[in-house]
This record gives sequence, C-alpha cells and structure tokens, in this order.
Amino acid sequence: MEIRGARYHYPALVGSGLIRQLGNQARKFLAGKTCAIISDDKIAALFANRVQKSLTSADFRPTLITIPPGEKWKTLEQAGEICDRMIAAGLDRQSFVIGLGGGVIGDISGFVAAIYHRGIPHVQIPTTLLAMVDSSIGGKAGVDTRAGKNLIGAFHQPSLVIDDLDVLKTLPRRELNQGFAEIIKHAVIADATMFRTLESWKASSGSASGALALQSLIKRNIEIKSQIVAKDERDRTGERAVLNLGHTIGHAIERAGNYSKFLHGEAVSLGIVAACTISIRKAGLLRNQRDAIVQLLQRFELPTCLPKNFPRKKIFDALKFDKKFESGKNMLWREAGIQLHFLSYL
Ligand SMILES: NC(=O)c1ccc[n+]([C@@H]2O[C@H](COP(=O)([O-])OP(=O)(O)OC[C@H]3O[C@@H](n4cnc5c(N)ncnc54)[C@H](O)[C@@H]3O)[C@@H](O)[C@H]2O)c1
Ligand SMILES: [Zn+2]
Repeated sequence: MEIRGARYHYPALVGSGLIRQLGNQARKFLAGKTCAIISDDKIAALFANRVQKSLTSADFRPTLITIPPGEKWKTLEQAGEICDRMIAAGLDRQSFVIGLGGGVIGDISGFVAAIYHRGIPHVQIPTTLLAMVDSSIGGKAGVDTRAGKNLIGAFHQPSLVIDDLDVLKTLPRRELNQGFAEIIKHAVIADATMFRTLESWKASSGSASGALALQSLIKRNIEIKSQIVAKDERDRTGERAVLNLGHTIGHAIERAGNYSKFLHGEAVSLGIVAACTISIRKAGLLRNQRDAIVQLLQRFELPTCLPKNFPRKKIFDALKFDKKFESGKNMLWREAGIQLHFLSYL
C-alpha cells in the first residue's frame, strides 16, 4: 500500500517472506549503495542474517550496528554512538538507514537517519506488532532523556516500510498483546467495524486464514494511522491528537512504574480505561461503551486496573512531565472530548 501526505509518499508492504525481497524493493526506491542496519542484539541474532543476505544479493553494502534491547537504551548517547560508528564505517550522504526492530529501534534509527548528514533515507522493518501498526508509520522519531520520554526528536518520514509477518512468530505473547492496545485505540477513534472484528478475534496466526486476518488487520491500522497523520503531519493542528487516546495517563503510568512495571501498550490500556472514566464524568460517555472497551482490552490480556500497591501519587507527579502539559492545562480534557465524539457510534 502507498502512504501519502502533502510532502511525502512511501510504500508500506505487508505480508509473509518480505525480508527476502528487501534488497530488490530497496533497489526500486533508494539510490545509495551503502547502508546501516540498526537493530538490538536480540533481534539481530534472529533476523540480521536474513536482512544482510537480501541486501548483499541486490548489491548493497550493509553495516550492522546493534545496541542492547530495551527502552533504557533509546538515548541521545546511543544515537551519538551509532552516528560515530556510521562515520567509521564510511557511510555518507548517499547512504541510508534500516531500522530492524520494535518501536525503540524504529524511533532511534529514524532519529539517526534524520540527523546524519542532515538527513538520509530511513527504511523501517518493524519486528513487533506495535511497531507495525503504530510506531513505524507517521514519521515521529526520537529518543528519551532523564526528564521524560521522546523529549528529543524529529519528524522524518520513512522511504519504505516492510512488515514481514514471519518475524512475529518469535515475538513473546505479552509483546504481541501490547500491540493490540494500539489497535484497540485505533478502533475506538476511527473504526467501529474493526472494533467488532476484534471482539471475536481468534489468535490463530499459525493458520493460513489467521495469517490473512492479521495481514488485513495490520493494513487497516496503517491506513487509519497514516490518514490521521496526513491531516496533521507535525502534530500542530490538534487532528493528530486523537492518536494520543490513553497516552497522557499511559505515559505517566509508564514513568511511575519506572518503565519496568508495564510495557508501553499495557500502560496505554490503563490510560484508555482512565480516559473512559474521565469521559463518563466530563463528556457523557455511556457506561456500556466504557465496559465494551474494557472487555476488549481484557480479551487481549491487557491490564484494566492498577495493582493495589501501585504508587498512585507517582502517576500524578509524572503527569507534569507530559509534553502535552501545555501552559498548565493538561490535554486530558481534550482527549476525553475527542473520545466522546468518536465513540458515539459504538
Ligand atoms: N514513533 C511513534 O510514533 C511511536 C508510537 C508508539 C510507540 N513508540 C515507541 O515504541 C517503543 C515501544 O516499542 P515496542 O513495543 O515495539 O518495544 P521494543 O522495541 O522495546 O521491543 C520489545 C522487545 O521485544 C523484542 N523483540 C522485538 N521484535 C521481536 C521479535 N520479532 N521476536 C522476539 N523478540 C522481539 C525486543 O528485543 C525488545 O526486547 C517505545 O519507545 C515507544 O515510545 C513510538
Ligand atoms: Zn503508543
């Protein structure tokens, strides 16, 4: 499928066995011969060989650069080190960057692509469901600082996105489920039919029909996200803010749990439930609509209430670090309002 915005367009391919075709696909869209494959150690051990082989057989010269897995490595220091290694490997303005991994790698590799020689092309090969349906689309790239997540970054649209469904076979179940939090978010804000499809979703990607269902689900999510992004590429007009559903509180919960208690999608699940509760109070959301959303999140084994001993005060403290905490007025109410608008047809 083709992703289009006012100033960019790029293909996003979704299917099985696509890594094998990477070299040929890259040939069509990228002029340079040299590239960096940026990945984490765990993912590189699984897929880097396949990626390198496909590239070299199409005459590219790839350099593999890995960092340790996990959010705590999505930093400016790591981005700097990656750049140094790219310089040492002789990569120049004609080179391009491939991000092979989940959202962490997608974000840091996109950031490196945005700043290296003032910007070189970026290819996304997402390896988590979350990265396929969300972070690889939309051009937001960046790193975390001690003060908060994604505080330093750039907008840099990819030149090519390759979603090879085969890579999901090794993804742990908890990681797969957290991807569904973003999928459910998309359903709530934009697609009631997808919401119903998810209510009877069977996790059977091993079968041919299961793989087809997953393929079309991923495509639909890419479509939803890219259409919203196209209306507000730089997150300025407020239209892209619908994608923040569950994220204001979700990010605060992630932070309050020191980024180790909950995965991003799990925190978003809790954030969606919180946003629903606010919507009931502030914006007239019906209880049965909230209940349907909670049940759907639970169907994918996502948390919908905080553990009893979770430090709740820390969540409120963490809210202050939110980028959306604009002139003292938190965007939560805005999220709640948006939600009412889109939920009225559920
Ligand atoms: N740019 C955006 O628009 C955007 C949107 C949403 C989230 N994000 C970012 O995405 C990040 C979260 O991404 P994530 O959930 O993909 O986490 P992640 O990148 O940390 O990956 C999760 C874990 O799964 C492992 N893994 C990845 N693919 C695997 C596979 N196929 N098989 C086995 N193990 C695999 C990784 O090594 C890692 O340990 C956060 O940093 C978040 O801020 C960005
Ligand atoms: Zn998210």
